[in-house]
Amino acid sequence: MKRIPEPFRIKMVENIRMTNRSEREAALEMAGYNPFMLPSDMVYIDFLTDSGTGAMSNHQWAGMMMGDESYAGSRNYYHLADKVKELIGYQYTIPTHQGRGAEQILFPALIARNKLKSGAKHPVFISNFHFDTTMAHVELNGAKAVNVVTNKAFDTNNYYDWKGNFDIEMLKQTIREYGEDNIVAIITTITCNSTGGQPVSLANMKAVYEIARQYDIPVVIDSARFCENAWFIKQREEGYADKSIKEIIKEIYQYGDMLTMSAKKDPMVNIGGLCSFRDNEALFNEVCIRCIPMEGFVTYGGLSGRDMEALAIGLEEGMDEDFLSYRINQVTYLGEQLRKVGIPVQYPIGGHAVFVDAKLFLPHIPSDQFPAHALNNELYLEAGIRSVEIGSLLLGRNPETGKQRESPMELMRLTIPRRVYTNDHMDYVVEAFMELKARASSIKGLTFTYEPPILRHFMARLKPISDM
Ligand code: F0G
Repeated sequence: MKRIPEPFRIKMVENIRMTNRSEREAALEMAGYNPFMLPSDMVYIDFLTDSGTGAMSNHQWAGMMMGDESYAGSRNYYHLADKVKELIGYQYTIPTHQGRGAEQILFPALIARNKLKSGAKHPVFISNFHFDTTMAHVELNGAKAVNVVTNKAFDTNNYYDWKGNFDIEMLKQTIREYGEDNIVAIITTITCNSTGGQPVSLANMKAVYEIARQYDIPVVIDSARFCENAWFIKQREEGYADKSIKEIIKEIYQYGDMLTMSAKKDPMVNIGGLCSFRDNEALFNEVCIRCIPMEGFVTYGGLSGRDMEALAIGLEEGMDEDFLSYRINQVTYLGEQLRKVGIPVQYPIGGHAVFVDAKLFLPHIPSDQFPAHALNNELYLEAGIRSVEIGSLLLGRNPETGKQRESPMELMRLTIPRRVYTNDHMDYVVEAFMELKARASSIKGLTFTYEPPILRHFMARLKPISDM
């Protein structure tokens, strides 16, 4: 694999502290064996998320000084909305405090429209894979969330270029099964976070959009990692090698009617989101009305003027091809080094994270004892590295039966913040895994001491089974 060095140099540093094993043991016990509850000062390398954890550029920081903090009509809002028009081609933009802010104002408006149009009583959203807060907003609004991602995504060992793709047959079948009138929207999530930061091909997005048109169902593009998805299209999809990332992004958004975006990922801001519409002014106006009591007036949407300025600049920086090549290369580097030492990972490696297959790594731990979470804890104890479980702990119980759902995959996500860590940090992570591999069979599963009713992985408290 060719190494691609950083297309930047470092102007300011943030010191991080290494802890010793007994400090980490005490901290993890205090945290209820849940790394979400650890103070970040007790973490050496933080791979919990790539969300809001990127390093802003000198241009973004300079933009922060140009904040116009007017309650209404901030100049930074117009700059941001114009950038969305220019780069994405969508006419109407509402800023939000983050991605879930966009979900909370958009989804009720879509459900209300669906009810008016068809009188439907059982609203359903279909996605390649709903992110957890996306699913939560669907369910909080009384609707059902159905995922129809390709089955190929669940075989972590087998290379497939498009493990984020919709299974088109399953999509059609799901529309027939629930009835087209009940389908509120189709959500195309790029990249598909839940299957490993895996891309969706343009051909697939186009096929989804054509089906949606046929049934008059709106398509929402959940855009957290749209630049990384565009980069994979350029590398892998026939006919796109000579297109620029900007051209590919323009094409992506032709296969959607609106977008929600967590701008804390690809646009590299510490806080911010977007809800934008291609041309539907009436829907935009309805969502504006919902925005005011929830996120704030529509020209700030829960952000300060300076945040909007950093976002307007970051939106374009995130599309830079040299940056994206370095970025994805660094994530691939970590994944390939782990593969070399025999750690099973989702393959090919995704855009923002390396997903370790804990079902294969710790086959002795059953899903209801959360193998990927056990691995998280062990990695933290070993080396002060924090990661996150994407498996049965996150999935939760079936809301109808109360039974623990078994996740098709038990993944541990090593999520790499943008422009933050060096490849020496990556090598350190690989060394820690070699230690874990040597004692994998002695790693124990976990059980709850406190189980929150929803979104439980954030606040749950657990203990290792051996302590029972
Ligand atoms: N959609 C996707 C695909 C996401 O990955 C996220 C957040 C959201 C929506 C919600 O955005 O956090 O800005 O409100 N993902 C983060 C993660 C939290 O760690 O993967 P948000």
